[in-house]
Amino acid sequence: MTMQSETSGRCALEEAYTQERERLFALAAKDEPQGEYRKLVFGEGARGARILLIGEAPGAEETKLGHPFVGKAGKQLDALFCRFGVMREDAFITNVVKYRPVIRSEKSVRNRTPLPTEVKAALPLLKTELLSIAPKLILTLGNTPLKAVFALVGQKPPSIGSAHGQMQKIEIEGITTSLVPLYHPASGIYNRALVEVMEQDAAFVGSVVHSLED
Ligand code: URA
Repeated sequence: MTMQSETSGRCALEEAYTQERERLFALAAKDEPQGEYRKLVFGEGARGARILLIGEAPGAEETKLGHPFVGKAGKQLDALFCRFGVMREDAFITNVVKYRPVIRSEKSVRNRTPLPTEVKAALPLLKTELLSIAPKLILTLGNTPLKAVFALVGQKPPSIGSAHGQMQKIEIEGITTSLVPLYHPASGIYNRALVEVMEQDAAFVGSVVHSLED
């Protein structure tokens, strides 16, 4: 590819990214004008990042501050990065769904898993993120991003129980990259039996990340 066509390809992706963000903002304004539910939290990090890390959706703290993985989950993520032996700044960090999906009751507002329709609606933006960053390694945290990435690939997703901690090659629109599915960092809080498995997966990611440097 010539430098000129590479640049125009990147510009087209930037344009698609901007349009998709604007589409989401317009939808957000139309669908849920009230409350924090539809405040958007976009991905952050260097566009040239080698690692693309994809979570499920922002929580309350992320929505308040406008950045992904800054609340309790952010602390867990930072600990995970330490185990990988890389800095958070080495990755582009995003979520499949860019707003906090919630269940409202009279007394509380609680997080919920995004609906399949919400994941489907979020795929165009996730795809432009992925294509514009063209990472060497994608890390998915939990089931929702694993399913979303396989939806982009056009394949049935494996279960997280069978795919976690293993590397596979995937291809999306001519971009071939490696994927390592991981459990969500919060999973170990709810299921202590997963803690050891998650440690092993993190060590594996550490070895993969360092092989990317060669
Ligand atoms: N959990 C996620 O998956 N993403 C966030 O941004 C925060 C918590």
